[in-house]
Amino acid sequence: MISKIDKIKQELALKIITNLEELEKFRLRYLSKKGVLNQLFEDFKLLKSDDKKQAGLKINELKEFISEFYTTHKNNLSQEATHTTNYDLSLPGDFQNIGSRHPISTVKNEINAIFNRLGFTISDGPEIEDDWHVFSALNFPPDHPARDMQDTFFINKTPEIVLRTHTSSVQVRVMETTAPPIRMIMPGRVYRNEAISARSHCFFHQIEGLYINKNVSFADLKQTLLFFAKEFFGTSTKIRLRPSYFPFTEPSAEVDISCTCNGKGCNLCKYTGWLEILGCGMVDPNVLDYCNLDSKIYSGYAFGMGIERIALVKYQVKDIRIYSENDVRFLSQFSPVL
Ligand code: PHE
Repeated sequence: MISKIDKIKQELALKIITNLEELEKFRLRYLSKKGVLNQLFEDFKLLKSDDKKQAGLKINELKEFISEFYTTHKNNLSQEATHTTNYDLSLPGDFQNIGSRHPISTVKNEINAIFNRLGFTISDGPEIEDDWHVFSALNFPPDHPARDMQDTFFINKTPEIVLRTHTSSVQVRVMETTAPPIRMIMPGRVYRNEAISARSHCFFHQIEGLYINKNVSFADLKQTLLFFAKEFFGTSTKIRLRPSYFPFTEPSAEVDISCTCNGKGCNLCKYTGWLEILGCGMVDPNVLDYCNLDSKIYSGYAFGMGIERIALVKYQVKDIRIYSENDVRFLSQFSPVL
């Protein structure tokens, strides 16, 4: 009996199984009803009880070896089978959709980078604000229309808590807490209670800039904005400043850039040759004083632009709504080029 088992072991040591057919032959020879193992168990029954102990151990060892041998080969071969049968290497690969950065983020990052190069750092503030930071500290008179429910989203009437209507609120927070010189830009989302149309939305994004120091002049402001316009829209870009009014700046101006039609007149600039891109001015001394900065020592300039507006000009998009509609047909045009 023992020698028979040893012989089977030798036979097994030489077994090589490379396919399912050979594996089935193996199963039939060793593991089937009339196979080698069952035959051994039959022989075992006829042994004298003295011999049974040693033979029993050996048969069990052999049985374990054979079943393990069988299952390992079976697993390996079935894995190979799925690999070979499920893959058709001639098929085109699965296309991986690569997301793209939203054009508003791209424009925001570009504007941030330009001002970073001029030494401006980025500052952030809350979107839900109180009346002081959005209006009062910015010199808005009590009866200013922006304080009306028709223009501003109120969260609470007394005390007045609103969704900020501009990122100038961050300017106030910065001035209240930072000693000059201050050279900062504030990108962020703002809200206005406006009817949604091709030209305006109830929420959009702004970047504001603030520079406070001794002897800051309007010429500094103009030069900074000219630099920005040339960096962002191209070196041949010209700027034009038109007098304007904001409660928090004096004097104030609106800034236009020359249109790419070179003054010939086109749809984009409505045949004027100029495109309005931002508002700016010298920080009103009242605002400096409200924020505990001595207006006799310090002066400063501020400017603010709508990112959607800049993106409309840059990408020549006609409808502001498309930036918040999540239409993949629009957004995929901004995919990185592979
Ligand atoms: N806060 C102004 C707006 O939202 C823009 C602005 C900022 C104008 C700073 C002048 C100076 O329209």
